[in-house]
Order: sequence, then C-alpha cells, then structure tokens
Amino acid sequence: MTSLVVLENNNNNNHHYQFDGDKDSSTTSDRESEKYLRELTKTFTGIDKPLKNARKCETLNDLMRELRQTFDSDHVNIEYVNHLMLSYESNPAEWRKFAKFDRFRYTRNLVDAGNGKYNLMILCWNEGHASAIHDHADSHCFMKMLKGQLMETRYAWPKDASVNDDCKADIGNGNGAGGHHEEQEYNGDELEELSRSTLETNGVCYINDTLGLHRVENPSHTDVAVSLHLYCPPFDVCSIFNKQTGKRTKCNVTFWSKFGKRDPANAN
Ligand SMILES: [Fe+2]
Repeated sequence: MTSLVVLENNNNNNHHYQFDGDKDSSTTSDRESEKYLRELTKTFTGIDKPLKNARKCETLNDLMRELRQTFDSDHVNIEYVNHLMLSYESNPAEWRKFAKFDRFRYTRNLVDAGNGKYNLMILCWNEGHASAIHDHADSHCFMKMLKGQLMETRYAWPKDASVNDDCKADIGNGNGAGGHHEEQEYNGDELEELSRSTLETNGVCYINDTLGLHRVENPSHTDVAVSLHLYCPPFDVCSIFNKQTGKRTKCNVTFWSKFGKRDPANAN
C-alpha cells in the first residue's frame, strides 16, 4: 500500500506530511510526519475563493482528470485540491448521469475511485433529507454544492467517544437510515453545537475529524440538492453519533450507484 503524503503550501513553506500509510511498515519518521499532518489540519479550514493564477477546471471530466493527476504524486497540496473543487462551475448536463435519487434518504453515488487514493462521489438529497451526525474516519473531506443548498451543522466530539461495536448500521444505500437498532441505556451529554452554515451552489467546504463532527441537511421543502464530495483517503466505515447522548455507533458506508450504474450489491 502506498502512503499518501499531503502537502500544504502555507505561506510558501512547502512542508511534507505523511498521511495514514500502511501502519505496519511505518517508520518513526512516517509517524512523526503523520503527527505533523494532524497538527497541520488543525489549522487548515478550507479556502473560499479559487487560487489566483492556478489552473481552472472547465468541466467535470476536466476536474476528474486534474484530480487524478494531482493524486498521482505522493505529494498532494490540500489547498490545491480545495482550489480545483472551487474552480469547477457546476453544469448539470455533466453530472446528471451520476445523480441517482432515492425517495426516502440521501444517496451516495461513486464517480471516481481515484486509483485507491481518494473517492469522488455525488450525493443526492431530496427535499428535507439529512445525514446523521458523523465523523470522517480520519480522512480529509471536501464538499462542493452542484445544485441547491445544504446546511451544515458542526458539533464538538463527545467527551466519551468510545464505540459501541454491537450497534452497526449502514448509511448511503437506502437500506437503513443508521441507528435503527435497539437503543441501550447510555448516559452521555448532549453534543455541543459549534457552528451552522449554508453552502450555496458552487461553494466548497472542508472538514476533518480535528475540526469536529457534522450533520448535513437539505433545508428546502421544494428543491432537491446535489453535492460533490472528495474523501482522501477513501473509507468504508465511519461513526455516527446520537445528538442527545453523544453515543457513538460504527457505521458502514456504501454506494447507491457506482460510475452511473445502480450498485447491485446494495440493491433493495
Ligand atoms: Fe460529512
């Protein structure tokens, strides 16, 4: 397994940071570098505007190509990835084939598996659809609005974030809304809300576990929302949290469709 190095070009100091490689073979310097990344991502909170004089992506294909190329290197500039996502102007004709909706809950539709280094996916939200409060499994997450609006509410981690492995749920494929299991008694505190913001069409937001947990919701009763997400590295298990108690539950994340086709493995 190749390690992914994430580079942030902050104040023109090109520091290299090791990101979650094969833990069994990681060296002391790998671990040190990973620690640096953790520190770094405490300060990277995303950028609002595309970088000046940097390459712009005119189409979704262009964006997919440029992301592939960027992640070809083991040195990835996190700010540049943010820039690329921002630079693309949403054109529904380009992403419509990936946008598959479900009546009952939001769907995750894989667009590109990024050579194993990242996942690019389109999430489709019908009116009022919302995610559970979740973490990001130690990955970087970029979310870009392609259509409509999404409201993001951030929460602080609960003081006791131990996982209840007995309660597994699935999210993303419409087979379960997550957390539909027998509730056991759990006496934790209500999660502290950190912020609330609304992402408009073509906007991009960034989150990782250092920045907290979040819940995403289409607040509209009349319009659907579509968002483009990049997760690096990819993950198939994350955690969801009960807002009232902070109780944490491990959750499999699955795809409703892959590359424009309904995923038979997750068909109802
Ligand atoms: Fe998220």
